[in-house]
Amino acid sequence: MTTVNDFRLKLRGKEYLPVIVGGMGVDISAVELALEACRLGGIGHISDAMIPFVSDKYFKTHYTKAKTTEHKASRNTSDKSLVKFNLDRLYEAQIAVVTKAMSRKQGPGAIWINVMEKLTMGSAGDTLGVRLNAAMDAGVDGITLSAGLHNQSLRLMAKNKRFHTMDIGIIVSSLRALKIFLRSGRRVDRIPDYVIVEGPLAGGHLGFGEDWADYNLKDVFQEVLSFVREENLPIAVIPAGGVFTGTDAKEYLQAGASAVQVATRFTVTKECGLPENVKQKYFEAYEEDVVVNGLSATGYLMRMLSNSPCLGANVKPQCEPFGYILSSKGTCLYIDAYDATGVDEKGKKLPVTDKMCTCYHFSKHNVYTCGHYVYRLKDTTNKLPDGSYQMLTAEHVFNDYLHSSDHKITLPPLEEV
Ligand SMILES: Cc1cc2nc3c(=O)[nH]c(=O)nc-3n(C[C@H](O)[C@H](O)[C@H](O)COP(=O)(O)O)c2cc1C
Repeated sequence: MTTVNDFRLKLRGKEYLPVIVGGMGVDISAVELALEACRLGGIGHISDAMIPFVSDKYFKTHYTKAKTTEHKASRNTSDKSLVKFNLDRLYEAQIAVVTKAMSRKQGPGAIWINVMEKLTMGSAGDTLGVRLNAAMDAGVDGITLSAGLHNQSLRLMAKNKRFHTMDIGIIVSSLRALKIFLRSGRRVDRIPDYVIVEGPLAGGHLGFGEDWADYNLKDVFQEVLSFVREENLPIAVIPAGGVFTGTDAKEYLQAGASAVQVATRFTVTKECGLPENVKQKYFEAYEEDVVVNGLSATGYLMRMLSNSPCLGANVKPQCEPFGYILSSKGTCLYIDAYDATGVDEKGKKLPVTDKMCTCYHFSKHNVYTCGHYVYRLKDTTNKLPDGSYQMLTAEHVFNDYLHSSDHKITLPPLEEV
C-alpha cells in the first residue's frame, strides 16, 4: 500500500521526506522540535517571533530588560511612537538563536525559519530586513515568509549572498496572494522555491476573513497547483491546515503536492516548546472548545481554545518590554482596545474583550492556538491511570505520518508510570 514514505520532496537538488513541521511562534516549534524533524529526514521550522525574548530565555541575555529600561518613559502613556528595537541587538539575537540551532543540526533534513511580516516591531521594513538577513547570515537552510503579503521581503534579502542559493518560500491562503508575491519577486529576479498553501483549518493566524468557513484547503490547493503547472513554474506546492493523518497527507501527495506542512499533531510532543500543562489542555480539548476570534492585535483572525487564559484578561499594554506588533507610528490595536475599556466601581480595569496584548500572552503561553482538529489529539495517544494523556515524541508522530494507511493512527507503546 502506498504511504507518505513512498514520496520525496525535491528542492534545489536535495531530497527530503515530504513532511514539514510548520513554524509555531512564540517558541512552540522550538529548536528541539525542528532538529528532530531534520534528523528524521524531513524539514523542521523554528520561528523568529519575539526572538530577543527567546534569546533571553535560552541564553540568559537581557534584551527585553534593556529595552524596558530604555523606554520606561512611555510606560504610563498610550503614545508608543518612540518605542523602537535596537537593530544591532535584534541582529545579534537572531544570529545567536539561529546559529545555535544550525550548529546542532544532524541528519539528512533541513531547518527553515518562519518569519512573520505582521510583526512590525515599531519599524516594519528595518526590523524585517534585519531578521531576514541575520537568519541568512546564520546559515539557516530556508526562510518561510508568513503572515503577510511580503511585498518588500525579497527586495530586503536581495543583496545577501545566499539570496539565490537557499530555499525561500511563502505561506499564502489564496492564488491572488501568490500572484502578488510573484510580481515582487520578478523585480529582483527571484521566484520562490516553494509555496505553502494554508487552508482555513490551520492553527495560528488565519489568512482568511470572517467567511473562513466558506473555504476549504483542497480547493485553494488545486487552484494554486493548476496555476503553477499552467505557468510551468518550478515551485513546490505544499498544502497545510487540517492534514491530520498520514492518509490525508498521502492523498495530497497523490494529487500533486510536493510535501505537506503539519503542526497541531506536534504540539503534544516532548520536543514542542509548550509547557506540559498546556499540552494536556490540547489533548483534553473537544470540538466545541475550538473558537476562531479576532483577539489578536495583528488584526488577523486566530484559532484557539476557549479556555485560553488570554480571554477576558486586561493587562496593561506591554510595549516597552515587547512591542512586536507596534506600527511605525507606535500604534497597536490592543492599546486602542485597552484605552476604550472602562473601570468598575472600585476603579479596577474591566476585562478587555475585543483584543489581547498578543505579545504578553504569547510570552506566557496564555494563547492556546491550535488547528481545528486539536480535539482529535486524544485519539493519538494513551490515557494514563492518573487521567492525563501520554506525551508523544516527535519521532513517533513523524513516523506515523510516514507509514499510516486508512487514516489509522498508531498509538505509542504505553509508558510505564
Ligand atoms: C500552536 C500553533 C502555532 C502556530 N504559529 C504559527 C506562526 O507563528 N506562524 C505561522 O506562519 N504559522 C503558525 N501556525 C500554523 C502552522 O505553521 C501550520 O501551517 C498549520 O497549523 C498546519 O495545520 P495543522 O495544525 O492542522 O497541521 C501555528 C500553528 C499552531 C498549531
